[in-house]
Amino acid sequence: MATAPDQPAVELDRAGPMPLLGFGTWQMTGARCQAAVGHALEVGYRHIDTAAMYRNEREVGRAVRDSGVPREQVFVTTKLPPGDAGRERRTLDSSLRALGMDYVDLWLIHWPPRDRALVPTWKELLAVRDDGLARAVGVSNYSVAQLDELRAATGEAPQVNQIPWAPSLYDAALLDEHRRRGVALEGYSPFKNTDLRHPVLTEIAAHHGVTPAQVVLRWHLDHQVVVIPKSATPERIAANFDVFGFSLGAEELGRIDGLSSSGRRR
Ligand SMILES: NC(=O)c1ccc[n+]([C@@H]2O[C@H](COP(=O)([O-])OP(=O)(O)OC[C@H]3O[C@@H](n4cnc5c(N)ncnc54)[C@H](OP(=O)(O)O)[C@@H]3O)[C@@H](O)[C@H]2O)c1
Repeated sequence: MATAPDQPAVELDRAGPMPLLGFGTWQMTGARCQAAVGHALEVGYRHIDTAAMYRNEREVGRAVRDSGVPREQVFVTTKLPPGDAGRERRTLDSSLRALGMDYVDLWLIHWPPRDRALVPTWKELLAVRDDGLARAVGVSNYSVAQLDELRAATGEAPQVNQIPWAPSLYDAALLDEHRRRGVALEGYSPFKNTDLRHPVLTEIAAHHGVTPAQVVLRWHLDHQVVVIPKSATPERIAANFDVFGFSLGAEELGRIDGLSSSGRRR
């Protein structure tokens, strides 16, 4: 449960710290994935995001083992494919076998399953958590209304909701809705949804002597939003982790927030 003590983290109820900066692994498989995760652990990431659907859990597990970093210092997330609703335990068993681990730190439902499976699937995740196979459980791509439906049915809201997030998608009200419910917002695709040549980002980057990509990641951290950039490129893997030596002022944060074009998404 103890992750590297010097990394900013969000405290998950009963599950301990989840590092705000993690490493995404979608669209990387085989040796390429193993090498990238190995490099990420070497430069300091202690949070890895995978999913059964990514078909790379085996390589993620190998990279963690080969890194020499103690298992309990790495926060590992995997996800249940919505098509496996009704086969939750079998699916997690198979993820754990592939990872070569006896628990994951966070297990998410990757997308909402069909309507009538919404609550039963969540109940299974809670049961699996109570059995110690996942330290924390949550969801991904859920609306606030769906979070509320799960809490109303079980008394427990998901600990995390992993959703697309980037300056262009910034939605203060949506962030607030998560905070008020005690649900940690974990953002995905920080770069795919960003124009890294936007003058607001390039100006702020120049001011701090960093890159626009580093500004985007720092913006997440300064908002206390979890971010999981993916890269297969060693230099980018390292640069994306090198964001702890500066921080953004309130005025800079406000300018980046202002890049949002999405409006409310609930
Ligand atoms: N729950 C869900 O439904 C869901 C959906 C999507 C993603 N995710 C998770 O979130 C993670 C991140 O999202 P993502 O992979 O969609 O997109 P992303 O991290 O926003 O972007 C990855 C792309 O950005 C490039 N890149 C990385 N660092 C860069 C830098 N410093 N400067 C410029 N370009 C850079 C990468 O290129 P190279 O690899 O060539 O360096 C890659 O093409 C995923 O890997 C996955 O773990 C979850």
